[in-house]
Amino acid sequence: MLAVMPDAPSSSPPPSRPTVLLDCDPGHDDAIAIVTAARHTDLVGITTVAGNAPLERTTHNALVMRDLLGIDVPVHSGAARPLVRDPVFAVDVHGSSGLDGADLPAPTTPLDGTDAARFIAATVRSTEDVWLVPTGPLTNIALAMRIAPDIIDRVRGVSLMGGGSFGNRTATGEFNIWADPEAAHVVFDSGVDLTMAGLDVTHQFLATAERVERVRAAAGALATVLADLMVFFSAIYRERHDDGALLGGAVHDPLAVLAITHPDVFGSVRRRVDVETHGVLTRGMTVIDERLLRSRPAPNCTVLTSVDADTAFELILDAITHFTT
Ligand code: BDR
Ligand code: CA
Repeated sequence: MLAVMPDAPSSSPPPSRPTVLLDCDPGHDDAIAIVTAARHTDLVGITTVAGNAPLERTTHNALVMRDLLGIDVPVHSGAARPLVRDPVFAVDVHGSSGLDGADLPAPTTPLDGTDAARFIAATVRSTEDVWLVPTGPLTNIALAMRIAPDIIDRVRGVSLMGGGSFGNRTATGEFNIWADPEAAHVVFDSGVDLTMAGLDVTHQFLATAERVERVRAAAGALATVLADLMVFFSAIYRERHDDGALLGGAVHDPLAVLAITHPDVFGSVRRRVDVETHGVLTRGMTVIDERLLRSRPAPNCTVLTSVDADTAFELILDAITHFTT
């Protein structure tokens, strides 16, 4: 676990309602990240990537969520596979649809484009202070940085879900980073202002039975879908871990959104973080330099270490209630 020794924040406070482009692979917790971003940010676009499920499914799921929210936000699909590796999906956690566990309506609105990297680049170039919030493998973000390196200095920052001081896909590899470590390396090494919601913090934010029932009690189509999704997701987490180890699914992805909309809800440290791309046992490990040396590598990342889970849940419930009809 990370030693929690708060450093002074390196950057100025974000605006209270930041401008966000969400890059995701829905995914149960990605679906909740979409709701959270739609409520608490100026959401200028959603891009999709292969990760929890094949690209066709993650894109389908993003379109379903747009419909359920009734929002007018462009959705662009992106990379169908990692930069170098073969794609591996998280069927064991999210089911083959990426959103198993709920009856989902078919999408009624068409996709807005199929080149997420170009959409990301164009959005960053045309929009002041936009945050990129990736909640899946970092393939689209890395491709955008490759085709348009000028966006690295223009973007307000990248607040991502991924990594941590331990893994879930492997002992050291968290799924999003493990799935496309080369893309993650491009992003972590880019010099962009990074915030990392890794497993250290996301495992503090669980879909407990009580929280799921509070979502269901919000009533309406969206609340019912999200509650059903969380029941499925939490059952998988409980099955996969020792009794009592996790009291519900870890709701990872919305924390990357809340990290910029409500930074006071989190504890964090500034650290140098690099991605292992060659390790046999450590593929996709985020190597966090915890040495408190007077002379140490300059930090490239705000690493979230703690979250006030009750407050985070209330913010998400507020988002769900806002869109519930
Ligand atoms: C991450 O992997 C996916 O299963 C989740 O959507 C989340 O983004 C957690 O490791
Ligand atoms: Ca995800």
